Amino acid sequence: MVLVLSLASCGGGDKPKEDVSEVPASKEVKAQESSEDPMSNKGIGPITSVTLGEIDPALVAEGEVVFKAKCTACHKISKKFVGPALKGVTQRRSPEWIMNMTMNPEEMIKKDPIAIQLLAEANGAPMANQNLTEEEARALLEYFRTKN
Ligand code: HEC
Repeated sequence: MVLVLSLASCGGGDKPKEDVSEVPASKEVKAQESSEDPMSNKGIGPITSVTLGEIDPALVAEGEVVFKAKCTACHKISKKFVGPALKGVTQRRSPEWIMNMTMNPEEMIKKDPIAIQLLAEANGAPMANQNLTEEEARALLEYFRTKN
């Protein structure tokens, strides 16, 4: 966005003026991005509150099975694929956000600021809804907790 805007403003005007107008624009975008702590964003969907305890190995194993069956078409843990690498995802997103993204991606990529940004980074490739149960989504979350 910023690039497009600044390119568009390159048309006329003298050089110094362009430089001056570019600085506040990019600062403004940075301020917007950092104004909200990503970990305080719970996303949009059925999950409003998740309480995490000790990592539950049985749930991790269940999550790994679901991941391999329903997510590896687009995700790898340590490398960007169609979607982002999921390594460390529990460090950068709240548990609720992760489960809502997993269960309700269509609405998330339309309305949630982080998901909108990820969609742009994936060149508009939308995450597919895999019709997961809440239990499957919770098991996936547990699996991701072991991938940091
Ligand atoms: C059709 C491909 C596709 C499938 C299948 C898919 N995803 Fe995604 N996922 C994406 C894309 C692409 C994004 C980035 C947002 C967008 O473009 O929609 C994403 C984003 C995510 C994110 C956010 C990552 C971050 O860095 O914040 C999580 C979490 C996620 N997916 C989990 C899953 C899980 C769990 C499954 C399996 C149930 C799954 N995805 C299945 C394509 C997919």
